[in-house]
Amino acid sequence: MSKTVQRWPLAFATMLALAAVAAGFLIGDDVVENWQLAARWTARVGAPIFLLTYSASSLVRLFPSSTTKALLRDRRWWGLGFAASHTIHLGALATYLMIGPESRTLASLIPGAVAYSMIYLMAATSNGYSMRRLGRNWKRLHSFGIHYIWLIYMAAYAGRILQPEKQVEGVIATTIFLAALGLRIAARKPRRVATA
Ligand code: HEM
Repeated sequence: MSKTVQRWPLAFATMLALAAVAAGFLIGDDVVENWQLAARWTARVGAPIFLLTYSASSLVRLFPSSTTKALLRDRRWWGLGFAASHTIHLGALATYLMIGPESRTLASLIPGAVAYSMIYLMAATSNGYSMRRLGRNWKRLHSFGIHYIWLIYMAAYAGRILQPEKQVEGVIATTIFLAALGLRIAARKPRRVATA
């Protein structure tokens, strides 16, 4: 398969995030709301792209088919697509925070900043050369990073369960993210027990 065809998830995720920004501009009543909606919806379109990347290896193990195998084959490009769409989230949220009424403490930005560091570290090492150079550390980095990003999504959505006006989306999204973790646990290879 040609590299260009394999890269389609990157183009798809970028277009989806740009469409989310455009939708924010079409629907918001003023420039602050435009950027707030753009920040909200770029995070939202990133969620399914993230979940595909997060679940690819589990899906192929539990439900092997040509579709899940194609997903696993292109997982790198789905991951890079997530990095691209979340870069657009970063642009939208930075603009919103600069022009909007919300003020955030530096401490409240730390979990998100760490998530961005993980996203870019993972994107920069999503290639054969880095895999060979980092050896076992490559797997450690990517495994920690992807679960950390999962945790940030979970924190964002689980926090809504206690807010009556956002409870439904909180429950739905939290359930989906927990189900994705459940898939990873179900697909774990049993550890070999050493025998004497
Ligand atoms: C310092 C970094 C970050 C800041 C300051 C930030 C800020 C924001 C802002 C301003 C919104 C719109 C809130 C609203 O709807 O009024 C938002 C939405 C959101 N962000 Fe980010 N964000 C950051 C990083 C991240 C990361 C790394 C993730 C995920 C890995 C993430 C996930 C979300 C989610 C899930 C939403 C809600 C989307 C929805 O309404 O469905 N954010 N963020």
